[in-house]
Amino acid sequence: MNKQALEDIAQAMLADGQGILAADESTGTIKKRFDSIDTVSTEESRRDYREMLFRATQAMQENISGVILYDETIRQKAADGTPLTQLMVEAGAVPGIKVDTGAKDLAGHAGEMVTEGLDGLRERLAEYHDLGARFAKWRAVLNITDTNPSAACLTANTHALARYAALCQEAGIVPIVEPEVIMDGGHSVERCYEVTSAALTALYEQLDNQGVHLEGSILKPNMIVSGTTNANQAGIDQVAEMTLDCFHKCVPTAVPGIVFLSGGQSDELATAHLDAMNKIGNLPWKLSFSYGRALQAAPLKAWGGKAENVPAAQAAFAHRAKMNGLATLGQWDASLEG
Ligand code: G3H
Repeated sequence: MNKQALEDIAQAMLADGQGILAADESTGTIKKRFDSIDTVSTEESRRDYREMLFRATQAMQENISGVILYDETIRQKAADGTPLTQLMVEAGAVPGIKVDTGAKDLAGHAGEMVTEGLDGLRERLAEYHDLGARFAKWRAVLNITDTNPSAACLTANTHALARYAALCQEAGIVPIVEPEVIMDGGHSVERCYEVTSAALTALYEQLDNQGVHLEGSILKPNMIVSGTTNANQAGIDQVAEMTLDCFHKCVPTAVPGIVFLSGGQSDELATAHLDAMNKIGNLPWKLSFSYGRALQAAPLKAWGGKAENVPAAQAAFAHRAKMNGLATLGQWDASLEG
């Protein structure tokens, strides 16, 4: 393992004022997104949409340090024949790749999932490295009920995350480890704190067991928020304080950066929460974003599947990227939303 090379990649991904664009929707998920704008999902339309994002020069150069791709996209070329990965490299962003093969039902544990994809992963990582990927993502899905996630679910998922991370580092690829505690449900913010703490504690035990070099890894967690249907929604300051309190207790300071998922939060709330945490500051890790929906909802709507809307869609993307870039510095303000 070349530790220095991994650390250098992680630092590039955590550049000041920048964050990660999660554009790794599976074919099924991007179809759902396209359905919402009445656009048919084909290999070409998916390419056109993603090319639009990657050619958004202002956003990509100023506020995007890395892009998570799906298997199809890392192999695709732009309409003019340029590999899509080349577009992001030219804009100064690191190409990354989602390598898990999805969350499946966990045997014997109704309502719980385990993420798969370890079989053949060493070989797939070598190929992705050849295709230009320098970081990867693996997402575990943890649902909250009064009793879940079970110990079995936490162990199975965090063990898989650690095996994945070790394989990535062997291949010269920085692992983003993502134990996502899902927002859906009526649970309280305190219950989210409890489950997220348990997940992060289990994760860092497993990463330690597998000898993962933390300085060459990045954490992609949820924020500590109230369940979506809980009547008592925690406010921005409470979310920021509880999230940081949880991380101070559970995330080793050797980890260079934490890049949040948006998880279904509105665009502006995802930005406001990140900003509030960075305003508190005094943190041992960089705190940034790796948003999918909270970066793409606005440009997706503006694009609407039509080539003539590309400039408007790129402007919408540039705006969200800029707002989130400011939030990584604790310099965002709602008045900037216009
Ligand atoms: O794995 C999750 C995605 O990369 C982030 O998507 O920001 O829409 O939750 P999201």
